[in-house]
Amino acid sequence: MRLDKFLVECGLGSRTEVKKILKSGKVTVNETIEKSAKAQIAEKEDTITYQGQVLTYEKFVYYLLNKPKGVISATEDAKHKTVLDLLDDTARQKEVFPVGRLDIDTHGLLLLTNNGALAHELLSPKKHVDKLYRAEVTGIMTAEDRNRFARGIELKDFTCQPADLEIVETDENRQTSLVHIRIAEGKFHQVKRMVAACGKEVLDLQRLSMGPLTLDNELALGAYRRLTADELETLTAFGVEV
Ligand code: URA
Repeated sequence: MRLDKFLVECGLGSRTEVKKILKSGKVTVNETIEKSAKAQIAEKEDTITYQGQVLTYEKFVYYLLNKPKGVISATEDAKHKTVLDLLDDTARQKEVFPVGRLDIDTHGLLLLTNNGALAHELLSPKKHVDKLYRAEVTGIMTAEDRNRFARGIELKDFTCQPADLEIVETDENRQTSLVHIRIAEGKFHQVKRMVAACGKEVLDLQRLSMGPLTLDNELALGAYRRLTADELETLTAFGVEV
């Protein structure tokens, strides 16, 4: 790959910034100063340093975002802020994208990566990757609702796979319920539609987990962090390069 691309992807800066860095003679390839942005390197074999520090190339990056309400799970949008607008330049330069979608008014765990094969695995209906949601709903959810979830709720256009509904608490005065819903699919507005099929309405929806990844309580809304080595290890179970 080109040296400037490598340096951009290592997070040194934009292409223009990287060009300047190269000109200043602070980059070496196999112990020789390299000033040309166009120089070709073998990113896995060559030793590239910046100011004496060895740079290691990461093909894939993974960010765990606590998505706030009001931003959309897309890479671009004419009207709204997207989840990419929450990231710094280094992350954006890695050309990450959200793995699946959360509605604009849903908050919580969203994985961003540039690993298309892994995203495909996580989203594949055949893989039945569990997603756990916390929902505040209007109305009192009942044991009968729980049974309907377990049997598979029939919506207008499809029948949902069996899902778990856990009633965490109900408030008779306010006529609201707090529930946890676990589904293995990811159809458009699925949780809201399942709750609506029981005659209730979702007031607030938060995703708590997706497959082996769990929302990090240390992450403020809109904040993100890289996956830890342990979290990455759990993703190797999907059988693709991570
Ligand atoms: N189900 C929904 O209805 N909305 C989401 O954002 C995610 C799951």
